[in-house]
Amino acid sequence: MEPSARIYVAGHRGLAGSALARRLAAEGYRNLVTRTHGELDLTDQAAVRAFFAREKPAYVFIAAAKVGGILANNDYPAEFIQSNLAVQTNVIHEAWRNGAKRLLFLGSSCIYPRDCPQPIKEDYLLSGPLEFTNRPYALAKIAGVEMCASYNRQYGTRYVAAMPTNLYGPGDNYDLAASHVLPALIRKMHEAKVRESDRVVIWGTGKPRREFLHSDDMADACVALIKLPDDKFDEVLRGPNGFPLINIGCGEDQTIAELARTVASVVGFRGALEFDTAKPDGTPRKLLDVGRLRRLGWSPRIDLSTGIAAAYKDFLAHDGGTKKKDAISEAKT
Ligand SMILES: NC(=O)c1ccc[n+]([C@@H]2O[C@H](COP(=O)([O-])OP(=O)(O)OC[C@H]3O[C@@H](n4cnc5c(N)ncnc54)[C@H](OP(=O)(O)O)[C@@H]3O)[C@@H](O)[C@H]2O)c1
Repeated sequence: MEPSARIYVAGHRGLAGSALARRLAAEGYRNLVTRTHGELDLTDQAAVRAFFAREKPAYVFIAAAKVGGILANNDYPAEFIQSNLAVQTNVIHEAWRNGAKRLLFLGSSCIYPRDCPQPIKEDYLLSGPLEFTNRPYALAKIAGVEMCASYNRQYGTRYVAAMPTNLYGPGDNYDLAASHVLPALIRKMHEAKVRESDRVVIWGTGKPRREFLHSDDMADACVALIKLPDDKFDEVLRGPNGFPLINIGCGEDQTIAELARTVASVVGFRGALEFDTAKPDGTPRKLLDVGRLRRLGWSPRIDLSTGIAAAYKDFLAHDGGTKKKDAISEAKT
């Protein structure tokens, strides 16, 4: 990818998209194209068509998506499937119409069957029933993977679908009603420390195992992928069962209790951790098999404690996580 390449990061203000934009800017890519949701609604086909015709990006990262926790997925299933199908259909199709050289579509590990063996290999896609609560989201993302596969097959494009594990990092969502477990723990521990509370209650038994990757590591992996030489990139595209699919993770997990202890130590909360076992645990383990990524020579750089410390600093610097920031407003065209 030449330094002057025109690169479009869709969703550049989100957790994943802002990390991608930061990474590309740090590597000296200055020809980034970005639009906020307010400036360009990616569900609007005509607007996306006009945008691509004008900007003609050579490389496209799709980090725009309607994303949410169990509650939001459960309450708004129609919006989750409609919005995600529309965003990815419009972007992938217009990228093709305008001759984008490479495209990276971001999905998530929820595309894999609910009860699949661990660690989760790319081969397990479509091998069993999905988790019901986020099935509309997962099916939209699976359709996105199939779109990449089908465009590659019919039109000879080079579109890859990357599936990251749980992410955390700058610009995360710390709203307890919508946040994922790690940012929720950061907020709860911080508030307990400020209130001088002697305990924090955590949902479930603390026994489920989860994997976490810093968003900057995710971005590093995605940029490394899109920059692969043709032969290596094409190898990725010839993924399992014909899917151009690759998992992105660190390959290690820990229990929620271990995670909570790490967060407590970073935040400086010294009270007790109480587990509310009446609340559901969810799936016992969710760990991605990252063998394909490792064989390309990539491995993460940010260990969990260091990453959580950086996330906590960012949380404190942005009104306790109530604000999202435009990480690359200076790079906007
Ligand atoms: N967060 C994780 O742990 C995680 C893990 C694995 C994979 N991923 C994947 O990474 C991708 C991005 O997730 P994220 O966590 O970065 O989400 P996020 O922080 O909510 O960012 C998504 C971005 O997309 C934008 N967007 C949504 N709908 C749009 C539309 N119709 N038009 C234009 N922009 C739109 C949002 O703008 P507004 O906020 O203004 O709506 C937001 O900036 C998703 O595909 C997700 O599956 C995330």
